[in-house]
Amino acid sequence: MSVTSNVPRHVAIVMDGNGRWAKKRFMPRFFGHKQGVDALVRTVQACADRGVEYLTVFAFSTENWKRPTEEVSGLMGLVLVAVSKYLRKLAGEGVRIRIVGDRSAVSDKVRQAWEQVEATTADNKRITLIVAFNYGGRWDIVQACQRAISDGVPADQLDEQRLGRYMTMGFAPDPDLFIRTGGEVRISNFLLWQVAYSEFHFSDCLWPDFGEAELDAAIAAFAERDRRFGGVKTAPAETLAAGH
Ligand code: IPE
Ligand code: IPE
Ligand code: MG
Repeated sequence: MSVTSNVPRHVAIVMDGNGRWAKKRFMPRFFGHKQGVDALVRTVQACADRGVEYLTVFAFSTENWKRPTEEVSGLMGLVLVAVSKYLRKLAGEGVRIRIVGDRSAVSDKVRQAWEQVEATTADNKRITLIVAFNYGGRWDIVQACQRAISDGVPADQLDEQRLGRYMTMGFAPDPDLFIRTGGEVRISNFLLWQVAYSEFHFSDCLWPDFGEAELDAAIAAFAERDRRFGGVKTAPAETLAAGH
């Protein structure tokens, strides 16, 4: 039996498998992305119910621009649809939403939607949903260095803590549990800096099928992990007292 806390404070998810989910149903890939938005809303609610404080999801990577133009524009359009369909609902449920990623390359409409999402939910406290959009782990490290340099931070005063504050998720603790759906066992340039001590859980579930049962399975697997952070496991006090 693990002595670690059962519920991760911060869960990060690579929401993968939308295209294959649609293909299995002889539907266009966009149909999978659309169902993926519903899975995301379900997952936010399930995480909030379980006491997760931060949920970070990979929605669009800096490499996803390589996809066919129709798919990229479909995904950008889906942002606007998802915001108009779900923002009010999530805001009403106490969800604070933050967007991380390079906004300079997205359209004005998408940028304005992100601004609206952040402004509407800024004071909410139940759970923080961080949407990584046009995000790359390497981009994040580079932008942190650039901002530190332009702030004039001297090289000998730049340490892990200080650079960490320049990372786009500097306001949040590092993820405890990293989940990837869709069967691939890779990071695909999602969080790099932040996963130094995250526990990984890979699932064959295709993202649109993700829900409470899958989340509970991942949390149960997490609860069994023995997190040592480079240290040595110490025996619980009662075991020591009993002379074991
Ligand atoms: C993940 O699903 C969603 C995005 C990358 C936007 P995919 O679109 O990668 O689905 P698969 O991996 O092709 O099944
Ligand atoms: C990672 O999935 C990106 C998102 C889920 C947004 P990809 O489907 O783009 O990753 P690869 O190409 O299989 O590595
Ligand atoms: Mg994929």
